[in-house]
Amino acid sequence: MQQFDVVVIGAGAAGLMCAAKAGQGGLRVALLDHSEKLAEKIRISGGGRCNFTNVNVSEENFISENPRFARAALARYTPADFISLVKQYNIPFHEKHKGQLFCDRKSDDIIDMLAAECNAGKVKWFRPHSVSAVEHDGTQFKLATTAGPLQARHLVVATGGLPVPKIGATDFGMKLAKQFGHSLVDQRPALVPLTFDSALWEPFVELAGVALPVSSRGSEPLAPWFDEDLLFTHRGLSGPAVLQASTYWNPGKPITLNLCGKPVDAAELQTELLQATLGARANADNWFAAQVPHWPKRLVQAWLKKPELQAVAGRKVAELGKKQLGPLAQALAAWQVVPSGTEGYKKAEVMRGGVSTADLQPKTLESRKIPGLYFIGEVVDVTGWLGGYNFQWAWASGTTAALAI
Ligand code: FDA
Repeated sequence: MQQFDVVVIGAGAAGLMCAAKAGQGGLRVALLDHSEKLAEKIRISGGGRCNFTNVNVSEENFISENPRFARAALARYTPADFISLVKQYNIPFHEKHKGQLFCDRKSDDIIDMLAAECNAGKVKWFRPHSVSAVEHDGTQFKLATTAGPLQARHLVVATGGLPVPKIGATDFGMKLAKQFGHSLVDQRPALVPLTFDSALWEPFVELAGVALPVSSRGSEPLAPWFDEDLLFTHRGLSGPAVLQASTYWNPGKPITLNLCGKPVDAAELQTELLQATLGARANADNWFAAQVPHWPKRLVQAWLKKPELQAVAGRKVAELGKKQLGPLAQALAAWQVVPSGTEGYKKAEVMRGGVSTADLQPKTLESRKIPGLYFIGEVVDVTGWLGGYNFQWAWASGTTAALAI
């Protein structure tokens, strides 16, 4: 039986950070992961350049059944703290868009940095190894692993969410939470492309590859608007605008897209369009194209084929009145489409739901049920927006737990 102060299961973003901080704090740390390759999710993140944080982070960038839960950990370890670590390792990085920070070179820079931090904390690696059973005798956690039995007073579960099973995602953390009497919040793919029934999508299939800036909104009552790019795909919609909206989408409900390039509602836009028709002589197709100069031509052509816009296509502008411009304004300022589903965990960037925050202490991430048991990172019901927020949650929750042990 090998004895440690803390065993961390999962050497991804949160587990590496937690193990490094705990080790550097003088604790004897074991870090176990079943994957052959270290931190594959960091490696593939941000298109291979890891959007490792965002300069503007608050609990408002996260979804959870308890919207305030993340606040304490996010304040305990901030983006500035992580940026200073990145600078300490001379890792070149740049700000891309809306405060998102990316590596100039590759995500491996972040993985190497975290591994070096673990080594500085004399963390003992158990890789690739898996755990077959965990017991708690009231004081010690006893783990049966492929590396033999391990024992520790503290156990940190950092096994992540369900996205991308082929690189090692499992439901281990959630099963363990259940074993120890924790409740779970229903899980579903988030930051994920949305798909549509093939009959409904048929007119848009030819638009695959078309991208344009839009505002998007999921179906939940408190869903925020996101100003991002939309991408048409063969099966539906993707791009940052739709990934963001997908996190706030519920099956059977529509997402809303404003494609007109300005923050107006359908009624305001109808008035604007009516004014724009005054004195216009062109045919409606050309006039319409001029109203949406930011649209690719292919989109304009496909759009005018929409059944509700038949009353516009091919007409003279002078003939257009409220009856024709109403549906046009609606389709531009608040296009509502009902996805049939998502591309699932194969393509999702994160999981919504997970281990309920109701059973965790926000200032330590420790279980309210079993002293010494901690849940950190994506396995917890805290889901960030696209833009570096999920990694910031991993660094912050990992550090918070380590400093509490
Ligand atoms: P993470 O998934 O990183 O680590 C979990 C670890 O646990 C893995 O190493 C896994 O092998 C291990 N594990 C699982 N089950 C186990 C078991 N039974 N036994 C032993 N080990 C087990 N976020 C962001 O902020 N910026 C970005 O640029 C991106 N980009 C991005 C792209 C893509 C394609 C994806 C899929 C995701 C992102 N993300 C992101 C999200 C981000 O990667 C994610 O939120 C964090 O990696 C979560 O960190 P965790 O440590 O919680 O889990």
